[in-house]
Amino acid sequence: MSKQNVLVVEDEELMRSILRQLLENAGYEVFTADSAESALEIFPTGDFAVTVTDIKMAGMDGLELLDRLKAVDSEAIVIVMTAYSSVDSAIAALRKGVYDYVTKPFVNEDLLQRIKNAILTKELFKENRALRRELDKHYSFAEIIGTSRLLEEVFGIVKKIADTNVSVLIQGESGTGKELIARAIHFNSRRAAKPFLAVNCGALPESLLESELFGHTKGAFTGAIVDKKGLFRSAEGGTLFLDEIGEMPLPLQVKLLRALQEHEVTPLGASIPIKFDARIIAATNKNLEAEVEENRFREDLFYRLNVIEISLPPLRERREDIPLLAKHFAFKTARAQNAPEKTISPEAMTALVNYQWFGNIRELENAVERAFILSGDEIDAESLPPKVRVNLRANVEMRDTENSRPTLEETERRYILEILTSVGEDKTQAANILGIDLSTLYRKLKRYEEI
Ligand SMILES: Nc1ncnc2c1ncn2[C@@H]1O[C@H](COP(=O)(O)OP(=O)(O)OP(=O)(O)O)[C@@H](O)[C@H]1O
Ligand SMILES: [Mg+2]
Repeated sequence: MSKQNVLVVEDEELMRSILRQLLENAGYEVFTADSAESALEIFPTGDFAVTVTDIKMAGMDGLELLDRLKAVDSEAIVIVMTAYSSVDSAIAALRKGVYDYVTKPFVNEDLLQRIKNAILTKELFKENRALRRELDKHYSFAEIIGTSRLLEEVFGIVKKIADTNVSVLIQGESGTGKELIARAIHFNSRRAAKPFLAVNCGALPESLLESELFGHTKGAFTGAIVDKKGLFRSAEGGTLFLDEIGEMPLPLQVKLLRALQEHEVTPLGASIPIKFDARIIAATNKNLEAEVEENRFREDLFYRLNVIEISLPPLRERREDIPLLAKHFAFKTARAQNAPEKTISPEAMTALVNYQWFGNIRELENAVERAFILSGDEIDAESLPPKVRVNLRANVEMRDTENSRPTLEETERRYILEILTSVGEDKTQAANILGIDLSTLYRKLKRYEEI
């Protein structure tokens, strides 16, 4: 590693040479200036990690120097040295944005430690900025991370269609970011200032879903004590997100199709249809075409919704996005917890990149969040969930099996972990689905951790 440059500004010759000696012995490349004026000449010529300056100097003093340095480089890190008797000026310096101060006479170790901290801070700063720049690439899409070709294609479509009124169908496994994309479409459209409303079509019984969507009049049925507008009309001017559209009961599918064709809804108990203006975005983790084949989803509705189709690829098919996503989630957790940021060890990153992520980005997010909380200064492999951690060693084997045929054992392992993920790690339920004893499941899981 090349040496870090430190600039020392001090008008007393003896002090200057003491500092030079001390810092050189500590491994820094030291540059000295005998006045603030000459420091200003030297500063722009070198990439200084830290500038250490005396406050009281003939001519321009350290505080003014600080101002001038910041004007050249707003992120310049400056440590001031001040006589014990004039701590007040140190405080003034802190107000002006000095990074730290030491009082003279100083303890060598103390000064060195402060310089070290300052350099570390500066590096974090830089890293952070680099990470932010990555995020900014898609800043218009708020928090959507990803640079893989597959995701770039999705971004391309989203940009093109955001400002149109066409219906969009978003397909993708659970946790691939369907709702996030739906929001991105809305917030990048002219409808952004109007409501974005979401409804999970699988979460409500048919009758409730019907009045939720289409509204009802007072007295339309027992319990309908006031008029209800319904989501189509409440989303007026905005976007209505129909999540889990594959779960919508067939009778409601007929009503939905009519609403989409006519741009109007008839609330329950009303006789006259009412116009609405909301853009419809639907999402499903089912294969809707297959549902159509099986007569569980109306073909005409499918085509009506599927004017634009967006398919979100599973995370395991765009592994190149994993490092950026993982860093993003670590960063987000730090922010949420008001905790210092943490890096992810190369080992942990390897395991993350190699894992199958059947729960996709949501599962990755949870894993990183958990690891953040369990880890020390750095997110290491030990803090990852065991089933992710094993991928560290299974690395080579997994890579190989991706292209060739996996062994029976590997297939079983993947299947078991997939089921386990799908039931939120509930082992009893997983054992039931797999048709094996709970003890057998435990035994197998234990084996996987030992691989
Ligand atoms: N590209 C991405 N960048 C950053 N975060 C993402 C990205 N994609 C998804 N996420 C995050 O992952 C989580 C799951 O995303 P979302 O809820 O949109 O998935 P979904 O496909 O709707 O899942 P489900 O089918 O289970 O409802 C959210 O917390 C979301 O913010
Ligand atoms: Mg969702």
